[in-house]
Amino acid sequence: MNIAFVGCGFVAAYYGDTLLNHPELRPLAVFDISPSRMSAFSKRYNIPIAASYQAILDNPDIDLIVNLTPPASHVEISRAALLAGKHVYSEKPLALEPAGAKELIALATKQNRLLAVAPCNFLGGSMQTLARLVRENVVGIPRLIYAEIDDGPIHQLPHSTWISSSGVIWPAETEFRVGCVWEHAAYEVGFLTSIFGPVASVTSFAHTLVTDKMKEIAPQDLGPDFCAALLPFRSGVIARLTIGTVARRNRSMTITGDKGILHIPEIWDYEAPVQFTLSRGSKADPASPLLLVTPRTTPERAVDSLGVPMPMAERGIQVDMLADAPRHYPKANRMDMCLGLAELAAAIRENRRPRMAADHAFHVYEILQALHDSVAAPGYREITSDFLPIEPMPPLQTAASNCTISW
Ligand SMILES: NC(=O)c1ccc[n+]([C@@H]2O[C@H](COP(=O)([O-])OP(=O)(O)OC[C@H]3O[C@@H](n4cnc5c(N)ncnc54)[C@H](O)[C@@H]3O)[C@@H](O)[C@H]2O)c1
Repeated sequence: MNIAFVGCGFVAAYYGDTLLNHPELRPLAVFDISPSRMSAFSKRYNIPIAASYQAILDNPDIDLIVNLTPPASHVEISRAALLAGKHVYSEKPLALEPAGAKELIALATKQNRLLAVAPCNFLGGSMQTLARLVRENVVGIPRLIYAEIDDGPIHQLPHSTWISSSGVIWPAETEFRVGCVWEHAAYEVGFLTSIFGPVASVTSFAHTLVTDKMKEIAPQDLGPDFCAALLPFRSGVIARLTIGTVARRNRSMTITGDKGILHIPEIWDYEAPVQFTLSRGSKADPASPLLLVTPRTTPERAVDSLGVPMPMAERGIQVDMLADAPRHYPKANRMDMCLGLAELAAAIRENRRPRMAADHAFHVYEILQALHDSVAAPGYREITSDFLPIEPMPPLQTAASNCTISW
């Protein structure tokens, strides 16, 4: 699949660094309005420079455009690509306004082109394993989810020293202006909706707690740095979502059901261990083949009145990546940003519905918009969009490990 990157900023290197995992993706061109960034990216990843964005749009060999520009440019770049008959993979968010999001979704349908929106972490090994365990009924009926994406007090950290593999400094000003909802909520919401289906409503509160993060930004121009929300799913489960850049780092997911609890400590790690604990009081012995860790030998397993060993109170599992691992990752985390691109490319090739489908992207968008709207007016908002179920990824090879259950 021939692709082109538009935008050679901080995140572009995350894509460049993970291209090696997907040799089927052939980058034919890069473009950025900053010649120095474009040149550095082109040199580092050996991808030809395009004379202009129009030159990419006019190149009939390019099938798929990867939009890595800042959020405010997403609609303009994606619109031009779709109009030129290209498929689009956009960094999140799809748009910053509902009109733009709706326009792009409608345009993709009209042009018969695929439109996908990052993040793709829900396709990663750990999250797919988590989803599979839920489907295999390991936790019984899922009742409650705690989804956290607190990224630590970023404004107090030395972010001017965070430099990507192609030499770009982390764009603090844009990130602070856009705020934590548009920047981070999709990493949790995308995954949750992919396994539990559509959300019925959002009740949320979002606020800017630290108003003097950057002297260049007036307080009223800062995006939120804290958001807390309740998301009842139409399937019955309820999620409590916390997003922020003030509280201590906690990017985890915990799914509680009648029989057990599943936990991922780090949703930005595609190889994070998935941990399982039996619910207190549950006698269930979950039989998923993914629960591979040998039960503890001490203390001795209790036996019931017939001498049959009782289920262990705790077990742990670890997800491994495909057998052709090790994978290549950016230096900051074990996230394969090109996995979503590869999945979209495969869907185009196979003429099938992609796992990162536009209807799902729009549903996530509607939820994010509701969260963002709660900055001005906290409260309840109905979510009306829908999407077709998402096929699981093919199962990965998994391996046992002695991971610790931490609660
Ligand atoms: N910074 C992160 O840690 C991070 C992580 C994941 C996703 N993202 C997302 O990735 C996207 C890009 O973020 P970033 O951190 O790389 O930002 P950035 O500001 O570092 O880079 C954006 C690049 O796009 C270029 N650009 C702007 N308008 C353009 C246009 N019209 N045509 C061509 N190039 C244009 C800029 O010159 C810049 O080099 C955003 O949507 C962001 O939400 C960022």
